[in-house]
Amino acid sequence: MLNVIIFGAPGTGKGTQSENIIKKYKLVHLSTGDILREEMRAESQIGLAAKKFIDDGQLVPDGVIIDLLFDRAAKHKDIQGYIFDGFPRTTVQAEKLDETVERDGAPISLVLYLDVSEEELFKRIMYRSQHSGRCDDTADVVRKRIEVYKHQTYPLLDYYRKQGKLKTINGMGTIEEVFEEIEEVIDSYLGV
Ligand code: AP5
Ligand code: MG
Repeated sequence: MLNVIIFGAPGTGKGTQSENIIKKYKLVHLSTGDILREEMRAESQIGLAAKKFIDDGQLVPDGVIIDLLFDRAAKHKDIQGYIFDGFPRTTVQAEKLDETVERDGAPISLVLYLDVSEEELFKRIMYRSQHSGRCDDTADVVRKRIEVYKHQTYPLLDYYRKQGKLKTINGMGTIEEVFEEIEEVIDSYLGV
């Protein structure tokens, strides 16, 4: 099993690079942001409850997101691994993820940290906002998401650095350049 976390601030390219990674390495993409947006479109109870947090740029409570993620993960059988995108975002989530994957005998292999300047990610999201239809892609909410990332999520880098799993990727290049760097890291992990 190859279990990869793609980590980074809002707009760093986690979703974009996950698409490239699943094509090449045949992993299952678990994006908590995408799952929450599906739930919101379906107007499910979870979706309606999560919307209040998402619209405000805040994190959805750990209990809700953890249940949702593991519920989705359980639907996939006989797979080569997962790419976790947008999860974990808090220490509680990271510890729960470790506990679960280690119990299943498939610990996290790598954490790919997409390093992008704040100016660039703001520019990317503002550009995307013209067609994304995402309610959280407004300038004020994006600023809030970045602040929430800095306070609640960025500290997790240390958690994974201590485990020796953290790989920093220069996320400032073109989509192709960033993916080439990711391929190098994954291939070297796989020994190919
Ligand atoms: P989520 O959906 O995870 O959003 P995010 O982390 O804010 O990140 P984005 O999806 O906006 O960006 P991305 O890094 O995927 O970049 P992308 O590839 O799209 O979360 C949304 C909300 O849900 C949260 O705020 C929270 O409320 C809630 N939530 C989700 N997970 C949660 C959790 N675990 N716990 C609690 N709450 C949770 O790229 C961005 C743009 O840039 C695109 O237009 C793309 O085409 C472009 N682009 C990508 N790469 C490049 C490049 N190299 N050069 C130029 N442009 C590029
Ligand atoms: Mg995304």
